[in-house]
Amino acid sequence: MIHEPRRAESDGAGGAADASRRVADGGLNLKPSGRVHVPESLESGSPTRPLGEISVQDPVFSCRDVSVFYGIKQALKSVTIDVARRQVLAAIGPSGCGKSTFLRCLNRMNDTIPGARVTGTITMDGQDIYSKRQDVAQLRARIGMVFQKPNPFPKSIYDNVAYGPRIHNLTRSRADLDELVFTSLQRAGLWDEVKDRLSSPAIGLSGGQQQRLCIARTLAVQPEVILMDEPCSALDPIATAHIEDLIEQLRASYAIVIVTHSMQQAARVSQRTAYFYMGQLVEVGDTDRMFTNPQHRLTEDYITGRFG
Ligand SMILES: Nc1ncnc2c1ncn2[C@@H]1O[C@H](COP(=O)(O)OP(=O)(O)OP(=O)(O)O)[C@@H](O)[C@H]1O
Ligand SMILES: [Mg+2]
Repeated sequence: MIHEPRRAESDGAGGAADASRRVADGGLNLKPSGRVHVPESLESGSPTRPLGEISVQDPVFSCRDVSVFYGIKQALKSVTIDVARRQVLAAIGPSGCGKSTFLRCLNRMNDTIPGARVTGTITMDGQDIYSKRQDVAQLRARIGMVFQKPNPFPKSIYDNVAYGPRIHNLTRSRADLDELVFTSLQRAGLWDEVKDRLSSPAIGLSGGQQQRLCIARTLAVQPEVILMDEPCSALDPIATAHIEDLIEQLRASYAIVIVTHSMQQAARVSQRTAYFYMGQLVEVGDTDRMFTNPQHRLTEDYITGRFG
């Protein structure tokens, strides 16, 4: 459920009412403490420190001043944020604000886009993932990715799940591989629906089943992190609920970053939310806090549907 954000409160001090008016007029932000924050201009392109809690203890990813350029266009502007273990981080914001770009920084998928350039530092478990010594294939095996549109390979259900383990040599025998395919499909909540047709083409599954198959394929590689870019946007409410239940179970073992346009989904599945706007990270923090008491006016405007 989404709560109305708490309005800026007066602390009874002489200037608070005036300050509160200025919030409405000039885009200043009044924190619940009564302190007025003056965000740097988001239009100017100058780096702005996000409001909220950017750091976590023992992060899986630490991103510091990460910028992404597509040619001369800057799509991500000096983003600084940690990603926690065994937790879901929701990345939200209007179309074009850089959510997918941010996600692709984490597994170096922007490397595959001609003209894309990433600056700043991203560490995973303390290691710089953009270092020359980093094996990118190995990095991507540690970081699973699920896309908006389910993209099963034109192979059987079994071969889709077995694909990653085969290319990464993760199992020693056919029995081991069978076991891994079974556990991956079971964890993805798909086993019962496909156990009698493992050799049938994956393309014959429904959209929601295909998306769970893609999640099973991701799990089979035994990643440490799962990135999901609008994984439910093509699904009906029942299939969506299924995926959301799955995300809730998976977070016991994985760090998950999910991009979503659904505020309800962000509120339901995530523990932490990051709000992006025009390439900048505006605010990040505990999901309950972000939805009940956003500190930045832009966050409040977005989550209450005033723009975006
Ligand atoms: N391959 C690319 N080449 C050039 N520009 C790109 C490329 N991919 C993204 N951009 C630009 O970078 C900016 C951020 O795009 P991105 O796809 O990260 O946004 P998004 O927040 O994921 O949007 P949406 O919600 O619509 O998916 C946009 O202005 C977009 O046009
Ligand atoms: Mg996107």
